[in-house]
Amino acid sequence: MEIKVQLTDHPKAKTPDSELGFGRVFTDHMFTMDWDKENGWHNAQIVPFGNISLSPACNVFHYSQETFEGLKAYRTADGHIQLFRPEENFKRLNNSNARLAMPTLDVGFCVEALKKLIEIDQAWVPYSEGHSLYIRPFCIGTEPNLGAHNTTTVKFLIILSPVGAYYASGLNPVSIYVEPRYVRAVRGGTGFAKTGGNYAASMLAQEEADAQGFSQVLWLDGVEQKYIEEVGAMNVFFVIGGKIMTPSITHGSILPGITRKSVIELLRHWGYEVEETRITVDDLMEAYKEGKFTEMFGTGTAAVISPVGLLRYKDYDMKLSDGKIGELSQKLYDELTGIQWGKRPDPFGWIVPVC
Ligand code: PLP
Ligand code: COI
Repeated sequence: MEIKVQLTDHPKAKTPDSELGFGRVFTDHMFTMDWDKENGWHNAQIVPFGNISLSPACNVFHYSQETFEGLKAYRTADGHIQLFRPEENFKRLNNSNARLAMPTLDVGFCVEALKKLIEIDQAWVPYSEGHSLYIRPFCIGTEPNLGAHNTTTVKFLIILSPVGAYYASGLNPVSIYVEPRYVRAVRGGTGFAKTGGNYAASMLAQEEADAQGFSQVLWLDGVEQKYIEEVGAMNVFFVIGGKIMTPSITHGSILPGITRKSVIELLRHWGYEVEETRITVDDLMEAYKEGKFTEMFGTGTAAVISPVGLLRYKDYDMKLSDGKIGELSQKLYDELTGIQWGKRPDPFGWIVPVC
């Protein structure tokens, strides 16, 4: 499919990298494409970044038919730009779309469209250490119809945002508490899909965490409220008695993170054993009391590798790695960011060059 390009007449001034933060600044262009039953995906365009006009009756506003992705483009030392496993993100978008009863996309076409968009906005990819271009592809149900049934029209967009660290603390350890009340997802629900509703349902818990000075909450399973699932924007790993463990994703309530998958592949490549299993919060507390639970970190595109220095459950505090960056967290951070920024070899073929 041909992609029509309309360039902006009003390029914006760039925000200095030191003032970027996360997700508040957008580049000059965006990609958009439409879907309906008669024409399938059509009208692929790169246009100036700007507001879009939608009927207030659109499906997405009332019934949350929405899916999204998050990936990054990185600037290498010699000025080139590269992506990290972009096909994985568009495959996951398709899994999310299938769950939300929306049409799937051609993964190869999406990667090409993304590369073209980034090439046009290449000047926006930050040069500073630890900064990158965050990419947000998303689909919305656009049928103007208040009947609660599947949308017959969909819009797919990709917007780009130059970013710094997700957490204000950067690579410094974050504090997290185990959410004792609310749940995020249940078996058979939409936990494995990246859909706005999962995040809307978690905002109240996030507000409460913010108010108590915690970065995020650690969700327990929605049925028995005892198995560890994931954090608001990251999957989690634990080092217990020298073993590396992470919650298994087979129950469909956890987002299958691409950083999680990459970290497991890296660790196994290095010869570590990684156990994907069900872990209860009681297991964690017991291991902590026995001095066996020594390190915890989160993994995510936005969060990269994020060491956890404090994990609280009800009124019990587990202090990890002396509040410092754990040894394994640092090693993984160095390797993963080394591959992403082109400073280290890419033995797995994860990197896709853009320009
Ligand atoms: N879990 C949730 C709920 C997330 O929002 C994210 C971020 O995308 C992750 C895990 C990590 O996924 P990934 O490594 O693909 O970014
Ligand atoms: C990402 O890491 O890409 C995410 O989507 C997390 C997001 C909630 C900021």
